[in-house]
Parts: sequence; structure tokens; C-alpha cells
Amino acid sequence: MEFILEISYLVASITFIVGLKMLSNPESARRGNLIAAVGMVLAIAATIFFHKDAEGHSIQNITWILAAMAVGTFIGYLMAVRVKMTAMPQMVSFFNGMGGACAALISLIEYNTHPSHETGFLIVVLLGLVIGSVSFSGSMVAYGKLEGKVKDLYLSMMPIINGAIFLAIVGVSVYGIVNPDMFDNGLLWIILAASLIYGIMFVLPIGGADMPVVISLLNSFTGVAAALGGFLYDNQVMLTGGILVGSAGTILTILMCNAMNRSLTNVIIGSFGGGGKAGPGGDGEDKVAKTITLSDAAILCAYANKVAVIPGYGLAVAQAQHVCHDFDKLLSEKGVEVTYDIHPVAGRMPGHMNVLLAEADVSYDKLLELEEANDGIGSVDVAIVVGANDVVNPAAENDPSSTIYGMPIIQVHKAKNVIIMKRSMGKGYAGIENELFFADNTRMLFGDAKESLSKLVSEIKEL
Ligand code: TAP
Repeated sequence: MEFILEISYLVASITFIVGLKMLSNPESARRGNLIAAVGMVLAIAATIFFHKDAEGHSIQNITWILAAMAVGTFIGYLMAVRVKMTAMPQMVSFFNGMGGACAALISLIEYNTHPSHETGFLIVVLLGLVIGSVSFSGSMVAYGKLEGKVKDLYLSMMPIINGAIFLAIVGVSVYGIVNPDMFDNGLLWIILAASLIYGIMFVLPIGGADMPVVISLLNSFTGVAAALGGFLYDNQVMLTGGILVGSAGTILTILMCNAMNRSLTNVIIGSFGGGGKAGPGGDGEDKVAKTITLSDAAILCAYANKVAVIPGYGLAVAQAQHVCHDFDKLLSEKGVEVTYDIHPVAGRMPGHMNVLLAEADVSYDKLLELEEANDGIGSVDVAIVVGANDVVNPAAENDPSSTIYGMPIIQVHKAKNVIIMKRSMGKGYAGIENELFFADNTRMLFGDAKESLSKLVSEIKEL
């Protein structure tokens, strides 16, 4: 029995690693996800049916466990099939919070059931409790913010209050470890409450645009908390899974910060995207953006040598990826060279644009990364910006007072002509004006991206 359990854990661990690796490519991502999920089912089934405790007892209450799993699976399934692609970050945050809550509960339960409270055990219990609860409450606030239900709140006293709560948690925990006899459940509940409050206070002041980074950071916290649960249960697969989540979350956090050219500290205390100051152009009222008609846009594109599509969050909102591919195919048939210039933080989650374009079967060869795109942008005849805003905002390069200053951008302002497809003069996620809209070589094509692209395709066909 023990042997079957060990083998199952080994196989499950391998599926996690292989699955994670496959997630790095859109072509293999779905299969990777499925493989890791099969591994997880195997690990859970092996634990339920083959695990024995130190005294050789099998797991009890199997009916209860299966019933809880059925309820959880049903709720998870419903949420997953109903979620809109644009609401994916919220869902990730919500599920991540549940993982944190589980890790905290494991610590609470294990403290009460474990026979001895030696130092190593206490450290693992406390770390799991603190990190799991911070991840839970922080993820719930992040979820609320992305749903538009929780507003950013920044008070000048917050860093001091947060520092005090953090020190109190560390102080009480160290006291408990040094004096295990004095350490009782009451203190554990106090640490739990303080950690939950810390998670809320930590995420509340962070600006809306930085939520994906925070979610990724909290995701890595949950991974670490789950790995600590693996220590408590002496369960290798939980340990492996937790470490993979923890390290993947950390790497993703670093990559996102690099793509925005900001440090993690700046993200955490920067209040970026919480309605920051307007960039050059002020509130934009004194300037007039030029518009372009569909027929002019069609002529410009059809007779161009090079057209670059720069997708952003609006492409996801409009679900314009398929018609965007139709537009690309039509132009390519006419001998126009079409590329997609992809900014690493376009949209609301890492790889957002790549996933959407892969869904529409756009060939990967046509996707250019930021540096390559910028190298060739000077020779682009028409840059079509489809629902992107912050990632093409020149203020990031030329306005040191802008909240996005320093973030690399796709330099569409260097293209010969720029067409911007969006519904209004509305701001992007960072909440700032975009001087690109008023540039000499820019024309606005107002409307929903999917509708505008469909009409553009029809116009081009009629030429
Ligand atoms: P945004 O700057 O958010 O701009 C999106 C634009 O799309 C909006 O200005 C909006 O203008 C337009 N839009 C919305 N719905 C539309 C529709 N149906 N049809 C046409 N246009 C529509 O997007 P972006 O340029 O992709 O930048 C992403 C932002 O998220 C950046 O600030 C980035 O730092 C932040 N962020 C992203 C990530 C990741 S991992 N992706 C991580 C951290 C932060 P209208 O309302 O006028 O239509």
C-alpha cells in the first residue's frame, strides 16, 4: 500500500512539472493543464485510499470527504464555465485565496491534533497560518478590487500601521516558539486575526493597475503555505506542488515588474493606477483628436506595405481576436506584410494577447515581441492599435512625472500612420491621458473593436 502511495505521489509530481513546462507555450498549454489535473486527481485518490497514519489507521470519513469534493468540484466547474475571459484575473485571485485559507486551516487543525509541539513543528504551523491567512484576505481584497467592489484606499499612516501589525505577528509568534507551554490556542487565534487584517491592509492601498502583480505575489505566498502543509503532513506531492506554485508565482511577479520597469517595492507602495495624475495634454479638453472614416482606413491599410496590429485590453473586451485574424488574412492576401506587436503586459494578465490570438489561430510567426516590434516600427506604414492604451502611451518615455514613466512601450508614435480603435477618449487602466491620440500621424476610429474591424474588413473587400 505504502509503495502504491509513493509511486502515485512520484507520478503526480512529474505530471505537475511536465504540465507546468507545457503551460509556457500556447500550443501545449491546454494539454499541460489537463496532465497536471490528472496528476492531482491521482494524488488525491491515492491519499484517500492508501494513506495510513503513524498508527496504521486509514483515512476515515471517506463519505464526507467525497461529498465535500463533489460540492467543490461542482462549484468550481460552474465558475470556470461561466467566467468571462476578461474576468479571469478575479477568478484566479479568488481560487488563490481559497488555497491560502486551506493552508491556514491545516495549520490550525494540525496544532490541535499533533501530539508534540516541538520548535520545528511550531515554526511550520505558524508560517503556514500567517502566510496562508495573508494570502486569503489579500486575495479577497484583490478580487473585490478587480470586480470594482472595493476601492483603493491609501492613508499616509498605512505603512506605519502595517509595519506595526507585521512586527506584532512576528513578536507573538517568536514568543510562542520560545515558550511553547505558554502558547495556547488563544494566541493562535490572535495571530490568525492579525494576519487576516495584515492581508487586507497590505492590498488595500495598491493601485488597480498593479493588481495582476499583487495576485501573482499572493499566488506565490499560497504556494509556500501549501508547501508548509506538505511538511506538516510529510506529504511529498503537496510539497512539490506548493514549491512549484511558489516559485512560478515569484518568477511571474519578477517578470511583470521587469516588463513595467518597476521594482516590487514600487508596486507595493506606489499606488499606481489609482487615478494618477494626468500626463501631458492635461485633461485633454483643449486638444482635439482627429478621426478617420472607415473607407479612408480601408484604403490606407489595403495599399500599405507593412501593417502592424497592436492589441490591448480592448481586444479582449470586444472579443475581436477572430475578426482581427480575418483582417490580417485579407491584407496578407493583398500582399501586405502584417505583424502583431505584443506588449508583455497588454491586457490584464500575462500572455493575455497571446492566448486570445492563439484562440483565433493566428500564426506565432506573426507575433513580434516588444524589442523586435520597436526595431521595425519606423518602417510600418499603418499601426493599428486595437483597444490598447497604456502600452502605447509615449508619456512612459517622455514625461518623468507620469505614473507609467519608465515602462517600456510599443513605440507606435514612430510609425508613419497610426489608427486607434477604441470606443471613446476614455483612459486605460493606469487612469492617465494619452498624448498619442493627439499626435499628427494619429487618427481615431471610434467604436467597439470587433464592430470596427468587421466593418473595416467589409470595406477592404469592396475596394
Ligand atoms: P489599457 O491601457 O487598459 O486600455 C484599454 C483600452 O481599451 C481602454 O482605453 C478602452 O478605451 C479600450 N476598450 C475597452 N473596451 C473596448 C472595446 N470593446 N472596443 C475597443 N476598445 C475598447 O490596456 P493596455 O494598453 O492593454 O494596457 C494594460 C494595462 O494593464 C497597463 O496599464 C498595464 O501596466 C496593466 N497591467 C497589465 C498586466 C498584465 S500581466 N497584462 C499586469 C499589470 C498591469 P475606451 O473605453 O475608450 O473604449
